Amino acid sequence: MRQIERRPFDEDGNGMEQRHIASTGRSASVIGIGTWQLGADWGEVSEDQAGQVLSAALAEGVTFIDTADVYGDGRSERLVGAFAAAHPDSGLVIATKMGRRVPQVRENYTAEAMRQWNDRSRRMLGVDTLDLVQLHCPPTDVLGDPLTWQTLRDMVDEARIRAFGASVETCEQALLAMDGGASSIQIILNVMRRKPLEEVLPAARERGVGIIVRVPLASGLLSGRYSKDTTFAADDHRTYNRHGEAFDVGETFSGVPFEVGIEVAQEFSRLCAELGPEGATPAQVALKWVTQQPGVTTVIPGARNADQARANARSAALPDLSEEFLSALEELYDQRIRAHVHHRW
Ligand SMILES: NC(=O)c1ccc[n+]([C@@H]2O[C@H](COP(=O)([O-])OP(=O)(O)OC[C@H]3O[C@@H](n4cnc5c(N)ncnc54)[C@H](OP(=O)(O)O)[C@@H]3O)[C@@H](O)[C@H]2O)c1
Repeated sequence: MRQIERRPFDEDGNGMEQRHIASTGRSASVIGIGTWQLGADWGEVSEDQAGQVLSAALAEGVTFIDTADVYGDGRSERLVGAFAAAHPDSGLVIATKMGRRVPQVRENYTAEAMRQWNDRSRRMLGVDTLDLVQLHCPPTDVLGDPLTWQTLRDMVDEARIRAFGASVETCEQALLAMDGGASSIQIILNVMRRKPLEEVLPAARERGVGIIVRVPLASGLLSGRYSKDTTFAADDHRTYNRHGEAFDVGETFSGVPFEVGIEVAQEFSRLCAELGPEGATPAQVALKWVTQQPGVTTVIPGARNADQARANARSAALPDLSEEFLSALEELYDQRIRAHVHHRW
């Protein structure tokens, strides 16, 4: 099968398409990388492997990295910070998240706590000013509280952060965070999660808010590599959060029941072979589908190893998916997935 090659975007033939997040003044590579895998919760990834994943992504032109204070309780931030320090001229933009190291009640989101979380992330990442900090799927009343946003604005004035946004579970929360003044919204959007296309992406475009797309592969389902017999490690959220036991079930397989997801992923793989770009894997097509949606700034697939990181970055070189293919995917969603997820997130 033909491999997808990297496509030059700038005048020197280097790099990857960059998209501007108007309200932050920063740009992000259209394919970024998520680093939950470099913390914990997905089984073990060694420090060596983590370095290889980040190096492979950067070599392919990825300059946007997403992390969080809670991934491996700081391990992911520490590894990302060390990597950025070792590549000072690479133009990396690092987005972290805060708020989930305490019980999720509004009372815990005080101005003092937010500054403490910020101090810890700055220490772990080894910088004075964070590029972008996102509230990490906080309770809805935190997003609706003007004090939350005032504190974040104050933290910009104090040069603790350059910009702030929110990672959210639902479309309603995304709109609420935009009202509060978020520069960016991180949300789940993929072939099995289409609701943000309705209101969230148009609103973000209108307001110049960046959209950072997470879980683009539905936790790996859309790669088409799993079967109903596939098992995951005990310390992988795809085992211990299969039914939402530890956190929102929408974060695991995009909230689609595993057996349904397997069948739909098989159909997705078949459609990719029939209607997709030649030589592209289903995972690459799934990423292209995301970046092709108007309003998306960057997508942050998680990668367990360097090969995955490389392959994901190369999806930036794919041509747009055809109308026929897009319609077939919409029909697949309507028939098999919509009833499981559309009313929830
Ligand atoms: N609440 C939040 O804010 C939140 C929640 C979830 C995620 N995130 C962020 O979003 C990022 C992405 O989401 P995610 O990692 O949960 O889900 P994802 O990107 O949909 O799936 C990642 C998984 O897909 C598989 N994969 C990746 N690249 C592949 C390739 N080229 N070919 C085949 N399989 C591939 C790997 O599975 P295997 O492990 O089976 O190889 C990998 O662990 C996270 O890393 C994190 O930074 C944020």
